[in-house]
Amino acid sequence: MPHLAIYRKYRPATFEDLLGQETIVKILKEEAKQDRLSHAYIFSGPRGTGKTTSARLIAKIANCEKRASDQKFREKGEPCNDCATCRAIDEGKALDVIEIDGASNRGVDEIRNLKESIRTSPSASRFKVYIIDEAHMLTKDAWNALLKTLEEPPAYVVIILATTEIEKVPATISSRAQKFYFKLVPREKIVQKLARIAKEEDVKISPEALDLIADYAEGSFRDSESLLDQMVSFGDKTVDVEEIEKAVGKISFDKIDAFAEMLVKGDVSGALAFVAEVADGGFNLSQFLRDVIQHLRRILVLRVSPQMEEIFKKEMMAEHLAKLIAQSKNLKPAHIALLKTLINAYGEMRYSQFPRIPLEVAIVEGLEKIKS
Ligand SMILES: Nc1ncnc2c1ncn2[C@@H]1O[C@H](COP(=O)(O)OP(=O)(O)OP(=O)(O)O)[C@@H](O)[C@H]1O
Ligand SMILES: [Mg+2]
Ligand SMILES: [Zn+2]
Repeated sequence: MPHLAIYRKYRPATFEDLLGQETIVKILKEEAKQDRLSHAYIFSGPRGTGKTTSARLIAKIANCEKRASDQKFREKGEPCNDCATCRAIDEGKALDVIEIDGASNRGVDEIRNLKESIRTSPSASRFKVYIIDEAHMLTKDAWNALLKTLEEPPAYVVIILATTEIEKVPATISSRAQKFYFKLVPREKIVQKLARIAKEEDVKISPEALDLIADYAEGSFRDSESLLDQMVSFGDKTVDVEEIEKAVGKISFDKIDAFAEMLVKGDVSGALAFVAEVADGGFNLSQFLRDVIQHLRRILVLRVSPQMEEIFKKEMMAEHLAKLIAQSKNLKPAHIALLKTLINAYGEMRYSQFPRIPLEVAIVEGLEKIKS
């Protein structure tokens, strides 16, 4: 099967499809409807959450050929995705949409030429749109060149800076731009999109497996889509939990849950055997312990504050949450000490030549207290 490059194929073509960034979408659509784009935008936030995607959407909004003729355009605040310009932007071929990678050497030169480039009006479209990606990598000279432009931007210019590190953008620049902060996306939105992609690509994958991918991606759409892509490119169109576990070295919820059950019950030999299996399976023990600690922390929190259920609902599958709630009923004060012991072990593990030993010692020590 050919490589899918899922994250490119499924890049949102409309604001409607940009998930988990509702506030941003609302404002940008409003600007589109009213035909009041800013001259400068700064999109900041974690990787794979929609910054570059939104920049391209603005480029389309600015230059879509239907904007003048189509009555509906103003009502929707979306690009048509059908005219020659929209399509050229999708293909990265639009003459008046200039994408600059701030991290590359070429990017530095391009910024240096920016001042001249900006002076010439757009060749084919209404706006000249500059998308400067990885803007945190820009040099002092580049920022100065940009500042000059932002002080007196020609009417036909829109500049969009995208960065994961907003604190590296000079205040002189950021105060002249409209700023949007992209958020990490809730797990359920990621699962929802992955499920849609899997369906369209005819990939068989269980909810459990989708959940593990979303968990691994930690709020980044791109990471989740790349991982799904990687799993599919192994060959067949069936992806199971074990394959994902092996690929990312992270263990799925059900197994963490089974291990936590042993801890809660005080089953020392069961827990030690489990650790041996995890270690021999080539999994990352730190990652494993981190997941276990998170699991126990959730149980503990649910025990003392049932209202937290509402928050956890957004972070995990309903069936998983039900299991945590059931486990929380068996929690005793001694389990708090166990959790602390495990957290200490986690700190020690990261600097140890033998990461398995602090974990084993913590299990023996922590479960001793539970039995007595
Ligand atoms: N909010 C979102 N809704 C739906 N899909 C998204 C969203 N954000 C990202 N994606 C998916 O992830 C891919 C990468 O997104 P994008 O390039 O916009 O990320 P980014 O925020 O610019 O990340 P980086 O900081 O790494 O450049 C997109 O092609 C799309 O498939
Ligand atoms: Mg980007
Ligand atoms: Zn269009």
